[in-house]
Amino acid sequence: MWEERYKTSDSYLFGLEPAKFLTENPWIHQSGGTALCVADGEGRNSTHLARAGLSVTAFDMAPTAVARAQELAKRAGVALDSHQSDWQSWDWSRQFDMVFGIFIQFMGPEGRPGQFADMARALRPGGRLVLHGYTPEQVDLGTGGPPSRDNMYTEDLLRTGFDGWRIERLAAYERDVQEGRGHSGRSALIDFVAVKPG
Ligand SMILES: C[S@@+](CC[C@H](N)C(=O)[O-])C[C@H]1O[C@@H](n2cnc3c(N)ncnc32)[C@H](O)[C@@H]1O
Repeated sequence: MWEERYKTSDSYLFGLEPAKFLTENPWIHQSGGTALCVADGEGRNSTHLARAGLSVTAFDMAPTAVARAQELAKRAGVALDSHQSDWQSWDWSRQFDMVFGIFIQFMGPEGRPGQFADMARALRPGGRLVLHGYTPEQVDLGTGGPPSRDNMYTEDLLRTGFDGWRIERLAAYERDVQEGRGHSGRSALIDFVAVKPG
């Protein structure tokens, strides 16, 4: 489905600009280091992070999206280690200083614990996990994301999912989002930034 969506879109589905949450919170990536962008799509976030000086690795399962990500990074004049891979095939033993999961709510309650565990594994101890997505209220707003409330995050779900982690930011809020045709309009968002213990 995702490859089809990208292939039939003649422009970047989620635009060229990073998620606003990233530009509003530059402290997240100011320390530099290595970053993994999971399910990175067309590279708007990974390219932004590479421009900010991080050494960025990214993957997505949709070949058209990965090709666009490589093109975006090339146009920006930055290095991006970008791969076509689905979630299951990624080598989660590779460790990074930061892991970014931005609008990756394609897994429901059965798959999500494994998804969280994979991202935790890819972080070195003391590394930072950055999640940005939707709360269940987004389903009523209908301006992006999957149609299932169960796929969305709540503050409690994230606190429980990363019990023992030091939370640096946890905020749920509504606002207008204009991030390509894929995310457009009033949206119910949630940000989560936390440091892996150890
Ligand atoms: C809503 S888009 C977000 C893309 C990007 N993170 C952004 O914010 O622009 C979700 C992305 O997840 C990718 N995706 C969905 N299921 C996946 C899977 N099982 N493995 C890897 N990527 C997946 C899709 O190809 C799509 O690019």
